[in-house]
Amino acid sequence: MLVAGNWKMNLGHADAVGRAADVVRATDGATGTVDVAVCPPAVWLDAVAERLRGSGVRLGAQNVHPEDAGAFTGEVSPPMLRDLGVHYAIVGHSERRQLFGETSAFVAEKVRAAQAAGLVPILCVGETLEERESGDAEATVLDQLASSLEGVGSADLVVAYEPVWAIGTGQTATPDQAQAMHAAIRGALAERFPGADIDILYGGSVKPGNAAELFAQPDLDGALVGGASLDAESFAAIVAAAKDAG
Ligand code: 13P
Repeated sequence: MLVAGNWKMNLGHADAVGRAADVVRATDGATGTVDVAVCPPAVWLDAVAERLRGSGVRLGAQNVHPEDAGAFTGEVSPPMLRDLGVHYAIVGHSERRQLFGETSAFVAEKVRAAQAAGLVPILCVGETLEERESGDAEATVLDQLASSLEGVGSADLVVAYEPVWAIGTGQTATPDQAQAMHAAIRGALAERFPGADIDILYGGSVKPGNAAELFAQPDLDGALVGGASLDAESFAAIVAAAKDAG
């Protein structure tokens, strides 16, 4: 099980460092059995890394550029993240796909570059409400998955299923909806990377109150948590639910 907190564009410097310390404290009893990570804004990665040192909580980035260096104003490269002790890099989050026009081809470049630098990509896929209502959810997600893995040779990654309609809305996918999509993703990954053991996280309004029933589903291997990860106690409760689910 892996529970990762995506802080998105939230928290100032002091709050980010304080929150990291709170997460370390609140999840201390679980980090031996559950993989736990926080993904702060890029500007606080260094300060948060300092606070996580020696703990069981890993550091993740919310984004990464596919090139190692060069004229890409405002971007951060995979080796730069590795230099900071970053372990995971979220790639292809729906906010980046929708608000910043990232295509699956570009996302695939990021997956390849992150892996080449020794980062573990957390590749996000998910359908919109329209796609779900028109019955295209599974086809959309599997197509996004395949095109976001174009040319990717290593199975050293995590996949996060994040239905766009469930992100930040309080409207969580039902355990059955999540399980069905996770099973489909699991099947596609098994064809793509035979024998590989790839964690599939669910993301979209995961809270302490719904985590246990989601984690009880056989194909859910953890969660990518947005809003609830900003509160250390809520985040720790989700981590505890993952620990209980084994
Ligand atoms: P919420 O948990 O706030 O719905 O966000 C989910 C998400 O986008 C995590 O990457």
